[in-house]
Amino acid sequence: MRRKLVAGNWKMNGTSAALDQVEKLKSDHTNPSIDIVLCPPATLLHKMMHSIGNAPIFAGGQDCHADVSGAHTGDVSAEMLADCGASYVIVGHSERRTDHRETNDQVRIKTKAAWRANLKAIVCIGETLEQREAANTLDIIVGQLAGSIPDNATGENLVVAYEPVWAIGTGKVPGLDDIGEVHDLIRTRLERRFGSGVGRSVRLLYGGSVKASNAGDIFDVSNVDGALVGGASLKADDFSPIINALQ
Ligand code: G3H
Repeated sequence: MRRKLVAGNWKMNGTSAALDQVEKLKSDHTNPSIDIVLCPPATLLHKMMHSIGNAPIFAGGQDCHADVSGAHTGDVSAEMLADCGASYVIVGHSERRTDHRETNDQVRIKTKAAWRANLKAIVCIGETLEQREAANTLDIIVGQLAGSIPDNATGENLVVAYEPVWAIGTGKVPGLDDIGEVHDLIRTRLERRFGSGVGRSVRLLYGGSVKASNAGDIFDVSNVDGALVGGASLKADDFSPIINALQ
């Protein structure tokens, strides 16, 4: 039985004042059977851990460098995130793949770095609009999955987020059948590569314009174990109803 998971990716949003949202989320969140993860900018992680306190909410980074430490100005290692109290890290988000030209190889190496620091990796994959319109979605997903995930994946250390690039921040969402088709494919490929036990235990998230009004339908799709939420994770009043839709 896979635990449900809703992760909020704050992207490059939020200063100390945003931590009020954590306080609100703490009072909203009463279901211990759902994992909630907040991924703030790295600058807020330490303060966020204080805000979370003993509440059943996890924190995560939005990216990590492959190395433990060194001359990499501006970067943050997985070990540094773990030292701040993070339990998760997002790797291979499409905004990293686009803005920083991250390749599947680099994402795979970062995922290994996350595991080295005992972080759970949320590995993001997803097709662009151009790729979807050329009917290449499934091939892209298969390639990204194979290239971005190292050997030694387990249900504990890996979460896969399917995020169609064209659905991120646009208000557009694929049809439920399309979401189901991709999630079923991801599940099948994970089972084939890592064995059915591991393949069935990895949690699969959908991401891209998830909001309270569509979350319930998306969560009913086969092999969707939760969501990776961007814009609607910034305010507890938007995020909590999404979490509640999983119950
Ligand atoms: O990491 C989150 C995704 O990029 C989704 O963002 O919910 O604002 O579309 P969004």
